[in-house]
Amino acid sequence: MTAPDRPWDWEAALARAPSGFDVTPADRATLDASAGSGAATYGEILPVAARGLLRWLSLGRDDVFADLGSGSGRLVFQAACETKVRRAVGVELSRDRHLAAVEGLRLLQAACPADSRPELTERIELRCEDVRTTDLADLTVVYVAATSFPPALWSTTLRRLAEAAPKLRRIVATRPLPAPWDRHFPPVGELELDMTWTRNARVHVHRTAHHR
Ligand SMILES: C[S@@+](CC[C@H](N)C(=O)[O-])C[C@H]1O[C@@H](n2cnc3c(N)ncnc32)[C@H](O)[C@@H]1O
Repeated sequence: MTAPDRPWDWEAALARAPSGFDVTPADRATLDASAGSGAATYGEILPVAARGLLRWLSLGRDDVFADLGSGSGRLVFQAACETKVRRAVGVELSRDRHLAAVEGLRLLQAACPADSRPELTERIELRCEDVRTTDLADLTVVYVAATSFPPALWSTTLRRLAEAAPKLRRIVATRPLPAPWDRHFPPVGELELDMTWTRNARVHVHRTAHHR
């Protein structure tokens, strides 16, 4: 399923997909209790902004892209449908949001051309897991909408990316990297992208030491 070769309207397929904004109070409380106050806060990158970001990142067949805190999975789906990434991975701790993403994937599978369905299924992975413990070994590019991550969660995420993601080449974050991670991962650029919570949010792109 390589959308640039065989376009199909994946966005229309998600028109009736459940939203990541609609979680139960219990789910929200569980998430905040586990990951820290503020972790359950929600917002999404808008599809046009995501399109620009994905192009800017030049994702290719060797890339495994992950959205760490993937909500309803839309960015993961967009990466799989609009780029040639080997795999697009969504990691989401909220059970309600993970289930919304699973339903979104079901709708995508139902709408995509039948001969592309196996490849679509193979290239998208949705995990109901914590960014602090999920397997990062294969990831080459990660996006983290960390704006509302409690500081400890944000630092732990970056420490794990430093220690457990040997193939990583780019980190894209909606929040500046704190010391010492701003030096450990040198900056390569900043973008201004539209989010559900604000226009022109500053997005920080960093590289790993072993990748230019
Ligand atoms: C601001 S939303 C971003 C949604 C999506 N990535 C986007 O940008 O369109 C942040 C997400 O991180 C999730 N989250 C918070 N703490 C997490 C953790 N420790 N592990 C996995 N996901 C987490 C929240 O449930 C929420 O869905």
